[in-house]
Amino acid sequence: MNVNEAAKVHAVYLPQDEMPTHWYNILADIPDQLPPPLDPRTLKPVSPEPLLRLFAKELVMQEVATERFIKMPDEVYDAYLSLPRPTPLIRARRLEKFLGTPAEIYYKCEYVNPTGSHKPNTAIAQAYYNMVEGNKRLVTETGAGQWGSALAMASALFGLKCSVYMVRASYDQKPGRRVMMETMGADVVPSPSKNTKFGKSILETDPNNTGSLGIAISEAVEDCLAHDNTKYCLGSVLNHVLLHQTIIGQEAKKQLEMIDVEPDIICGCIGGGSNFAGFAYPFMADKIKGKSDAKFVACEPKAVPSTTRGTYTYDFGDAAEMTPLIKMYTVGHKYQPPPIHAGGLRYHGKAPSLCYLINKGYMSSVAYSQNEVFEAACILARTEGMITAPESAHNVKYAIDEALRCKRNGEKKTIVFNNCGHGLLDLQAYDAFMNGRLEDYEPAAIEVPKLIH
Ligand SMILES: Cc1ncc(COP(=O)(O)O)c(C=O)c1O
Repeated sequence: MNVNEAAKVHAVYLPQDEMPTHWYNILADIPDQLPPPLDPRTLKPVSPEPLLRLFAKELVMQEVATERFIKMPDEVYDAYLSLPRPTPLIRARRLEKFLGTPAEIYYKCEYVNPTGSHKPNTAIAQAYYNMVEGNKRLVTETGAGQWGSALAMASALFGLKCSVYMVRASYDQKPGRRVMMETMGADVVPSPSKNTKFGKSILETDPNNTGSLGIAISEAVEDCLAHDNTKYCLGSVLNHVLLHQTIIGQEAKKQLEMIDVEPDIICGCIGGGSNFAGFAYPFMADKIKGKSDAKFVACEPKAVPSTTRGTYTYDFGDAAEMTPLIKMYTVGHKYQPPPIHAGGLRYHGKAPSLCYLINKGYMSSVAYSQNEVFEAACILARTEGMITAPESAHNVKYAIDEALRCKRNGEKKTIVFNNCGHGLLDLQAYDAFMNGRLEDYEPAAIEVPKLIH
Protein backbone atom coordinates (compact mmCIF):
# COMPACT_ATOMS: atom_id res chain seq x y z
CA MET A 1 0.00 0.00 0.00
CA ASN A 2 1.45 3.42 -0.93
CA VAL A 3 1.54 6.45 1.40
CA ASN A 4 -1.54 8.05 -0.14
CA GLU A 5 -3.62 4.90 0.23
CA ALA A 6 -2.48 4.40 3.84
CA ALA A 7 -3.45 7.99 4.63
CA LYS A 8 -7.06 7.15 3.68
CA VAL A 9 -7.49 4.13 5.97
CA HIS A 10 -10.47 4.38 8.31
CA ALA A 11 -11.34 0.74 8.81
CA VAL A 12 -9.63 -2.49 7.80
CA TYR A 13 -11.81 -5.47 6.91
CA LEU A 14 -10.24 -8.90 6.63
CA PRO A 15 -12.08 -11.01 4.02
CA GLN A 16 -13.99 -13.92 5.56
CA ASP A 17 -11.91 -16.46 3.62
CA GLU A 18 -8.79 -15.09 5.32
CA MET A 19 -10.06 -15.63 8.84
CA PRO A 20 -7.51 -17.76 10.76
CA THR A 21 -8.33 -21.47 10.81
CA HIS A 22 -6.20 -22.33 13.87
CA TRP A 23 -5.79 -20.94 17.39
CA TYR A 24 -2.29 -19.90 18.46
CA ASN A 25 -0.83 -21.52 21.58
CA ILE A 26 1.79 -19.31 23.24
CA LEU A 27 2.96 -22.21 25.42
CA ALA A 28 4.90 -23.42 22.38
CA ASP A 29 6.95 -20.20 22.35
CA ILE A 30 7.34 -19.22 26.00
CA PRO A 31 11.03 -19.71 26.86
CA ASP A 32 10.42 -21.57 30.16
CA GLN A 33 7.81 -24.09 31.24
CA LEU A 34 5.04 -22.35 33.15
CA PRO A 35 4.90 -23.17 36.88
CA PRO A 36 2.33 -26.02 36.97
CA PRO A 37 -0.99 -25.89 38.87
CA LEU A 38 -0.52 -27.69 42.22
CA ASP A 39 -2.77 -29.94 44.29
CA PRO A 40 -3.32 -27.92 47.50
CA ARG A 41 -3.08 -31.04 49.70
CA THR A 42 0.06 -32.64 48.28
CA LEU A 43 1.61 -29.52 46.68
CA LYS A 44 2.42 -31.78 43.70
CA PRO A 45 1.49 -30.83 40.12
CA VAL A 46 -2.13 -31.78 39.39
CA SER A 47 -2.74 -34.35 36.70
CA PRO A 48 -5.36 -33.54 34.05
CA GLU A 49 -7.67 -36.44 35.15
CA PRO A 50 -9.56 -34.70 38.00
CA LEU A 51 -10.31 -31.85 35.60
CA LEU A 52 -12.33 -34.23 33.43
CA ARG A 53 -15.17 -34.17 35.98
CA LEU A 54 -15.44 -30.42 35.44
CA PHE A 55 -14.50 -29.78 31.82
CA ALA A 56 -15.06 -31.38 28.42
CA LYS A 57 -12.19 -33.75 27.58
CA GLU A 58 -11.07 -31.81 24.53
CA LEU A 59 -10.80 -28.64 26.63
CA VAL A 60 -8.65 -30.44 29.21
CA MET A 61 -6.38 -31.60 26.38
CA GLN A 62 -6.13 -28.05 25.07
CA GLU A 63 -5.30 -26.88 28.59
CA VAL A 64 -2.07 -28.88 28.55
CA ALA A 65 -1.37 -28.80 24.80
CA THR A 66 2.03 -27.69 23.62
CA GLU A 67 1.55 -27.58 19.83
CA ARG A 68 1.89 -24.06 18.41
CA PHE A 69 -1.36 -24.14 16.39
CA ILE A 70 -4.60 -26.01 17.09
CA LYS A 71 -7.19 -26.38 14.34
CA MET A 72 -10.67 -24.99 14.93
CA PRO A 73 -13.46 -27.53 14.33
CA ASP A 74 -15.49 -26.68 11.20
CA GLU A 75 -18.66 -26.03 13.26
CA VAL A 76 -16.81 -23.55 15.47
CA TYR A 77 -15.26 -21.88 12.42
CA ASP A 78 -18.71 -21.53 10.83
CA ALA A 79 -20.22 -20.16 14.05
CA TYR A 80 -17.41 -17.59 14.20
CA LEU A 81 -18.17 -16.50 10.64
CA SER A 82 -21.81 -15.90 11.53
CA LEU A 83 -21.05 -13.84 14.68
CA PRO A 84 -19.79 -12.19 12.41
CA ARG A 85 -16.04 -12.52 12.22
CA PRO A 86 -13.49 -11.25 11.22
CA THR A 87 -14.17 -8.11 13.23
CA PRO A 88 -13.07 -4.74 11.81
CA LEU A 89 -9.96 -2.85 12.87
CA ILE A 90 -10.73 0.86 13.11
CA ARG A 91 -8.34 3.80 12.85
CA ALA A 92 -9.57 6.27 15.50
CA ARG A 93 -8.91 9.35 13.40
CA ARG A 94 -11.37 11.65 15.18
CA LEU A 95 -9.91 10.71 18.54
CA GLU A 96 -6.39 11.40 17.21
CA LYS A 97 -7.55 14.78 15.92
CA PHE A 98 -9.29 15.69 19.18
CA LEU A 99 -6.12 14.85 21.13
CA GLY A 100 -3.94 16.67 18.59
CA THR A 101 -1.49 13.78 18.70
CA PRO A 102 0.97 12.66 16.03
CA ALA A 103 0.30 9.08 17.23
CA GLU A 104 -1.91 6.71 15.21
CA ILE A 105 -4.58 4.91 17.23
CA TYR A 106 -6.28 1.71 16.06
CA TYR A 107 -8.79 -0.50 17.82
CA LYS A 108 -10.14 -3.97 17.21
CA CYS A 109 -13.95 -4.17 17.40
CA GLU A 110 -14.73 -7.23 19.53
CA TYR A 111 -18.16 -5.82 20.42
CA VAL A 112 -19.78 -6.42 17.03
CA ASN A 113 -21.64 -9.62 17.89
CA PRO A 114 -25.06 -10.18 19.49
CA THR A 115 -23.75 -10.32 23.07
CA GLY A 116 -21.31 -7.43 22.70
CA SER A 117 -17.88 -8.66 23.78
CA HIS A 118 -14.99 -11.00 22.97
CA LYS A 119 -16.45 -13.75 25.17
CA PRO A 120 -18.25 -15.72 22.38
CA ASN A 121 -14.82 -16.61 20.90
CA THR A 122 -14.37 -19.14 23.67
CA ALA A 123 -18.03 -19.71 24.64
CA ILE A 124 -18.73 -21.12 21.17
CA ALA A 125 -15.74 -23.45 21.31
CA GLN A 126 -16.56 -24.62 24.86
CA ALA A 127 -20.25 -25.23 24.14
CA TYR A 128 -19.38 -27.05 20.91
CA TYR A 129 -16.94 -29.51 22.54
CA ASN A 130 -19.42 -30.18 25.37
CA MET A 131 -22.21 -30.86 22.90
CA VAL A 132 -20.04 -33.27 20.90
CA GLU A 133 -19.09 -35.13 24.11
CA GLY A 134 -22.76 -35.60 25.03
CA ASN A 135 -23.01 -33.19 27.96
CA LYS A 136 -26.43 -31.63 28.47
CA ARG A 137 -26.00 -28.70 30.83
CA LEU A 138 -23.31 -26.04 31.34
CA VAL A 139 -22.83 -24.08 34.52
CA THR A 140 -20.71 -21.00 34.97
CA GLU A 141 -20.20 -17.73 36.80
CA THR A 142 -20.30 -14.23 35.39
CA GLY A 143 -18.96 -10.93 36.63
CA ALA A 144 -20.20 -8.20 34.34
CA GLY A 145 -22.68 -10.48 32.60
CA GLN A 146 -20.74 -10.48 29.32
CA TRP A 147 -19.37 -13.98 29.78
CA GLY A 148 -22.72 -15.31 31.01
CA SER A 149 -24.46 -13.79 27.97
CA ALA A 150 -21.90 -15.35 25.64
CA LEU A 151 -22.26 -18.81 27.19
CA ALA A 152 -26.07 -18.47 27.21
CA MET A 153 -25.93 -17.70 23.48
CA ALA A 154 -23.46 -20.49 22.68
CA SER A 155 -25.51 -22.99 24.73
CA ALA A 156 -28.62 -21.98 22.77
CA LEU A 157 -26.73 -22.45 19.46
CA PHE A 158 -25.64 -25.97 20.41
CA GLY A 159 -28.84 -27.07 22.23
CA LEU A 160 -27.50 -27.14 25.80
CA LYS A 161 -29.02 -25.93 29.08
CA CYS A 162 -27.12 -23.17 30.83
CA SER A 163 -27.06 -21.92 34.44
CA VAL A 164 -25.19 -18.78 35.43
CA TYR A 165 -24.11 -17.59 38.89
CA MET A 166 -23.99 -13.83 38.48
CA VAL A 167 -21.99 -11.75 40.98
CA ARG A 168 -24.60 -9.97 43.12
CA ALA A 169 -23.08 -6.49 42.52
CA SER A 170 -23.52 -6.90 38.75
CA TYR A 171 -26.90 -8.64 39.11
CA ASP A 172 -28.14 -5.47 40.84
CA GLN A 173 -26.24 -2.99 38.60
CA LYS A 174 -27.01 -4.62 35.25
CA PRO A 175 -30.54 -6.05 35.08
CA GLY A 176 -30.33 -5.83 31.27
CA ARG A 177 -27.61 -8.48 31.25
CA ARG A 178 -29.75 -10.82 33.36
CA VAL A 179 -32.69 -10.39 30.98
CA MET A 180 -30.40 -10.99 28.00
CA MET A 181 -29.23 -14.32 29.43
CA GLU A 182 -32.77 -15.36 30.36
CA THR A 183 -34.03 -14.43 26.90
CA MET A 184 -31.50 -16.85 25.47
CA GLY A 185 -32.81 -19.55 27.76
CA ALA A 186 -30.33 -19.52 30.65
CA ASP A 187 -31.15 -19.61 34.40
CA VAL A 188 -29.50 -16.74 36.26
CA VAL A 189 -28.89 -16.79 40.02
CA PRO A 190 -27.37 -13.92 42.04
CA SER A 191 -24.19 -15.06 43.83
CA PRO A 192 -23.73 -15.67 46.72
CA SER A 193 -26.90 -17.77 46.50
CA LYS A 194 -28.83 -20.29 48.53
CA ASN A 195 -28.30 -22.91 45.79
CA THR A 196 -24.98 -24.06 47.19
CA LYS A 197 -23.47 -24.86 50.60
CA PHE A 198 -20.74 -22.29 50.02
CA GLY A 199 -23.20 -19.55 49.03
CA LYS A 200 -25.38 -20.30 52.07
CA SER A 201 -22.37 -20.16 54.39
CA ILE A 202 -21.52 -16.67 53.16
CA LEU A 203 -25.10 -15.40 53.36
CA GLU A 204 -25.42 -16.65 56.95
CA THR A 205 -22.64 -14.36 58.15
CA ASP A 206 -23.13 -11.55 55.61
CA PRO A 207 -26.63 -11.43 54.03
CA ASN A 208 -25.72 -8.30 52.01
CA ASN A 209 -22.51 -9.71 50.52
CA THR A 210 -22.12 -8.20 47.00
CA GLY A 211 -20.25 -11.26 45.74
CA SER A 212 -17.05 -11.71 43.79
CA LEU A 213 -15.93 -13.78 40.82
CA GLY A 214 -14.02 -15.99 43.26
CA ILE A 215 -17.25 -16.78 45.17
CA ALA A 216 -19.30 -17.28 41.99
CA ILE A 217 -16.67 -19.68 40.60
CA SER A 218 -16.87 -21.74 43.81
CA GLU A 219 -20.68 -21.88 43.53
CA ALA A 220 -20.62 -22.90 39.87
CA VAL A 221 -18.03 -25.63 40.54
CA GLU A 222 -20.07 -26.94 43.51
CA ASP A 223 -23.22 -26.99 41.35
CA CYS A 224 -21.38 -28.83 38.57
CA LEU A 225 -20.07 -31.50 40.95
CA ALA A 226 -23.58 -32.01 42.37
CA HIS A 227 -25.33 -32.64 39.03
CA ASP A 228 -25.02 -35.35 36.39
CA ASN A 229 -24.50 -34.53 32.69
CA THR A 230 -23.29 -31.10 33.77
CA LYS A 231 -19.95 -29.48 33.00
CA TYR A 232 -18.41 -26.28 34.21
CA CYS A 233 -17.15 -23.57 31.85
CA LEU A 234 -14.76 -20.76 32.73
CA GLY A 235 -14.68 -17.49 30.78
CA SER A 236 -11.07 -16.54 31.44
CA VAL A 237 -7.75 -17.41 33.16
CA LEU A 238 -7.27 -20.97 31.84
CA ASN A 239 -4.93 -21.74 28.93
CA HIS A 240 -7.72 -23.10 26.70
CA VAL A 241 -9.77 -19.91 27.12
CA LEU A 242 -6.83 -17.69 26.18
CA LEU A 243 -6.12 -20.02 23.27
CA HIS A 244 -9.61 -19.52 21.78
CA GLN A 245 -9.27 -15.76 22.09
CA THR A 246 -6.15 -15.69 19.88
CA ILE A 247 -8.38 -15.36 16.86
CA ILE A 248 -8.51 -11.65 17.82
CA GLY A 249 -4.78 -11.00 17.65
CA GLN A 250 -4.23 -13.16 14.58
CA GLU A 251 -6.86 -11.18 12.69
CA ALA A 252 -5.48 -7.86 13.96
CA LYS A 253 -1.98 -8.82 12.85
CA LYS A 254 -3.18 -9.63 9.34
CA GLN A 255 -5.19 -6.39 9.24
CA LEU A 256 -2.17 -4.27 10.22
CA GLU A 257 -0.08 -6.11 7.62
CA MET A 258 -2.71 -5.24 5.00
CA ILE A 259 -1.98 -1.53 5.60
CA ASP A 260 1.77 -1.95 6.25
CA VAL A 261 1.56 -0.79 9.83
CA GLU A 262 3.79 -2.06 12.66
CA PRO A 263 2.34 -1.57 16.15
CA ASP A 264 4.54 0.15 18.77
CA ILE A 265 2.15 -0.19 21.68
CA ILE A 266 -0.36 -2.99 22.22
CA CYS A 267 -2.73 -2.58 25.14
CA GLY A 268 -5.84 -4.14 26.63
CA CYS A 269 -7.67 -4.55 29.91
CA ILE A 270 -7.22 -7.55 32.20
CA GLY A 271 -9.83 -9.23 34.38
CA GLY A 272 -8.65 -12.83 34.15
CA GLY A 273 -6.51 -11.90 31.15
CA SER A 274 -8.25 -13.63 28.23
CA ASN A 275 -9.09 -10.77 25.86
CA PHE A 276 -5.71 -9.13 26.26
CA ALA A 277 -3.86 -12.42 25.91
CA GLY A 278 -5.92 -13.30 22.84
CA PHE A 279 -5.20 -9.92 21.30
CA ALA A 280 -1.54 -9.67 22.33
CA TYR A 281 -0.10 -13.19 22.08
CA PRO A 282 0.10 -13.44 18.27
CA PHE A 283 2.17 -10.21 18.39
CA MET A 284 4.07 -11.38 21.48
CA ALA A 285 5.31 -14.40 19.52
CA ASP A 286 7.45 -11.95 17.49
CA LYS A 287 8.72 -10.20 20.60
CA ILE A 288 9.77 -13.49 22.22
CA LYS A 289 11.66 -14.35 19.02
CA GLY A 290 13.39 -10.94 19.03
CA LYS A 291 11.60 -9.82 15.83
CA SER A 292 9.63 -6.96 17.44
CA ASP A 293 10.24 -4.47 20.22
CA ALA A 294 6.60 -3.46 20.64
CA LYS A 295 5.52 -2.49 24.16
CA PHE A 296 2.67 -4.53 25.73
CA VAL A 297 0.61 -2.91 28.47
CA ALA A 298 -2.10 -4.60 30.55
CA CYS A 299 -4.62 -2.27 32.20
CA GLU A 300 -6.43 -3.07 35.45
CA PRO A 301 -8.53 -1.23 38.05
CA LYS A 302 -6.92 0.32 41.14
CA ALA A 303 -9.77 -1.34 43.06
CA VAL A 304 -8.44 -4.82 42.15
CA PRO A 305 -4.72 -4.23 41.50
CA SER A 306 -3.59 -7.86 41.03
CA THR A 307 -0.51 -7.19 38.89
CA THR A 308 0.39 -3.68 40.10
CA ARG A 309 0.13 -4.26 43.86
CA GLY A 310 -0.46 -7.99 44.25
CA THR A 311 2.07 -10.77 44.74
CA TYR A 312 3.36 -13.31 42.18
CA THR A 313 2.68 -16.48 44.09
CA TYR A 314 0.59 -19.66 44.25
CA ASP A 315 -3.03 -18.94 45.16
CA PHE A 316 -6.46 -20.54 44.80
CA GLY A 317 -8.52 -19.57 41.75
CA ASP A 318 -11.71 -19.34 43.83
CA ALA A 319 -12.84 -18.14 47.24
CA ALA A 320 -13.90 -21.57 48.59
CA GLU A 321 -10.47 -23.13 47.85
CA MET A 322 -11.88 -25.79 45.49
CA THR A 323 -9.47 -25.18 42.59
CA PRO A 324 -5.82 -26.19 42.30
CA LEU A 325 -3.19 -23.65 43.37
CA ILE A 326 -2.15 -21.47 40.46
CA LYS A 327 1.00 -19.35 40.18
CA MET A 328 -0.22 -15.87 39.35
CA TYR A 329 -0.29 -12.24 40.42
CA THR A 330 -3.00 -12.11 43.04
CA VAL A 331 -4.50 -9.85 45.66
CA GLY A 332 -5.52 -13.01 47.55
CA HIS A 333 -8.45 -15.34 46.96
CA LYS A 334 -10.34 -13.93 49.96
CA TYR A 335 -10.11 -10.37 48.64
CA GLN A 336 -13.55 -8.76 48.49
CA PRO A 337 -13.47 -6.57 45.35
CA PRO A 338 -15.24 -3.22 45.67
CA PRO A 339 -18.40 -2.93 43.50
CA ILE A 340 -16.79 -1.09 40.57
CA HIS A 341 -18.79 -1.04 37.33
CA ALA A 342 -16.08 -2.91 35.44
CA GLY A 343 -17.48 -6.15 36.85
CA GLY A 344 -15.33 -8.26 34.52
CA LEU A 345 -12.17 -6.87 36.13
CA ARG A 346 -13.15 -7.81 39.68
CA TYR A 347 -11.09 -11.02 39.80
CA HIS A 348 -8.35 -11.46 42.39
CA GLY A 349 -5.87 -13.26 40.11
CA LYS A 350 -4.83 -13.32 36.46
CA ALA A 351 -3.97 -15.97 33.84
CA PRO A 352 -0.69 -17.80 34.61
CA SER A 353 0.88 -17.23 31.16
CA LEU A 354 0.10 -13.51 31.29
CA CYS A 355 1.54 -13.28 34.81
CA TYR A 356 4.67 -15.09 33.67
CA LEU A 357 5.12 -12.59 30.81
CA ILE A 358 4.65 -9.64 33.18
CA ASN A 359 7.01 -11.16 35.72
CA LYS A 360 9.71 -11.71 33.07
CA GLY A 361 9.36 -8.15 31.76
CA TYR A 362 7.77 -8.96 28.38
CA MET A 363 4.71 -6.94 29.43
CA SER A 364 4.02 -4.16 31.88
CA SER A 365 0.83 -3.14 33.62
CA VAL A 366 -0.94 -0.01 34.88
CA ALA A 367 -3.94 0.62 37.15
CA TYR A 368 -6.65 3.28 37.02
CA SER A 369 -9.59 4.35 39.14
CA GLN A 370 -13.10 4.34 37.73
CA ASN A 371 -13.68 8.07 37.34
CA GLU A 372 -10.60 8.61 35.16
CA VAL A 373 -11.56 5.55 33.14
CA PHE A 374 -15.10 6.79 32.46
CA GLU A 375 -13.74 10.22 31.55
CA ALA A 376 -11.62 8.53 28.87
CA ALA A 377 -14.61 6.43 27.75
CA CYS A 378 -16.68 9.62 27.29
CA ILE A 379 -13.90 11.10 25.12
CA LEU A 380 -14.06 7.98 22.95
CA ALA A 381 -17.86 8.21 22.76
CA ARG A 382 -17.76 11.90 21.81
CA THR A 383 -15.09 11.49 19.13
CA GLU A 384 -15.63 8.00 17.69
CA GLY A 385 -19.32 7.55 18.59
CA MET A 386 -18.51 4.29 20.36
CA ILE A 387 -19.68 3.59 23.92
CA THR A 388 -17.20 1.11 25.26
CA ALA A 389 -17.62 -1.35 28.15
CA PRO A 390 -16.36 -0.17 31.56
CA GLU A 391 -13.68 -2.87 31.26
CA SER A 392 -12.25 -1.77 27.91
CA ALA A 393 -12.49 1.84 29.09
CA HIS A 394 -9.35 1.04 31.11
CA ASN A 395 -7.27 0.56 27.97
CA VAL A 396 -8.94 3.53 26.29
CA LYS A 397 -7.57 5.58 29.21
CA TYR A 398 -4.10 4.14 28.65
CA ALA A 399 -4.26 4.72 24.87
CA ILE A 400 -5.30 8.35 25.39
CA ASP A 401 -2.54 8.97 27.96
CA GLU A 402 0.02 7.41 25.65
CA ALA A 403 -1.21 9.47 22.66
CA LEU A 404 -0.87 12.63 24.79
CA ARG A 405 2.65 11.58 25.79
CA CYS A 406 3.45 11.23 22.08
CA LYS A 407 2.10 14.75 21.57
CA ARG A 408 4.33 16.17 24.30
CA ASN A 409 7.40 14.32 22.98
CA GLY A 410 6.61 14.81 19.29
CA GLU A 411 6.61 11.03 18.71
CA LYS A 412 4.61 9.29 15.99
CA LYS A 413 3.87 5.92 17.61
CA THR A 414 1.22 3.43 16.59
CA ILE A 415 -1.06 2.45 19.46
CA VAL A 416 -3.39 -0.52 19.05
CA PHE A 417 -5.97 -1.54 21.63
CA ASN A 418 -8.57 -4.23 21.94
CA ASN A 419 -12.01 -2.68 22.21
CA CYS A 420 -13.32 -5.84 23.83
CA GLY A 421 -16.90 -4.87 24.60
CA HIS A 422 -19.62 -2.27 24.19
CA GLY A 423 -21.20 -0.53 27.16
CA LEU A 424 -24.79 -0.37 25.94
CA LEU A 425 -25.97 -2.37 28.96
CA ASP A 426 -23.78 -0.30 31.29
CA LEU A 427 -25.43 3.05 30.69
CA GLN A 428 -26.35 3.52 34.35
CA ALA A 429 -22.61 3.50 35.08
CA TYR A 430 -22.10 6.27 32.52
CA ASP A 431 -25.04 8.10 34.09
CA ALA A 432 -23.47 7.78 37.56
CA PHE A 433 -20.17 9.12 36.20
CA MET A 434 -21.76 12.08 34.43
CA ASN A 435 -23.73 12.98 37.55
CA GLY A 436 -20.80 12.75 39.95
CA ARG A 437 -22.08 9.62 41.68
CA LEU A 438 -19.18 7.31 40.87
CA GLU A 439 -16.91 6.37 43.77
CA ASP A 440 -13.23 5.54 43.44
CA TYR A 441 -11.93 2.66 45.53
CA GLU A 442 -8.40 1.67 46.41
CA PRO A 443 -7.47 -0.87 49.08
CA ALA A 444 -5.24 0.57 51.81
CA ALA A 445 -3.27 -2.61 52.35
CA ILE A 446 -3.30 -5.93 50.53
CA GLU A 447 -2.54 -9.11 52.43
CA VAL A 448 -1.86 -12.10 50.24
CA PRO A 449 -1.69 -15.32 52.28
CA LYS A 450 1.54 -17.27 51.72
CA LEU A 451 0.23 -20.72 50.85
CA ILE A 452 3.56 -22.19 49.80
CA HIS A 453 6.74 -21.58 51.76
C1 LIG B 1 -16.14 -6.60 28.23
C2 LIG B 1 -15.19 -7.34 29.10
N1 LIG B 1 -13.90 -7.04 29.01
C3 LIG B 1 -12.98 -7.66 29.77
C4 LIG B 1 -13.33 -8.63 30.67
C5 LIG B 1 -12.28 -9.25 31.51
O1 LIG B 1 -12.01 -10.57 31.22
P1 LIG B 1 -10.73 -11.01 30.46
O2 LIG B 1 -9.54 -10.36 31.14
O3 LIG B 1 -10.68 -12.47 30.58
O4 LIG B 1 -10.85 -10.57 29.05
C6 LIG B 1 -14.67 -9.01 30.78
C7 LIG B 1 -15.07 -10.08 31.70
O5 LIG B 1 -16.20 -10.32 31.99
C8 LIG B 1 -15.62 -8.34 29.97
O6 LIG B 1 -16.91 -8.64 30.06
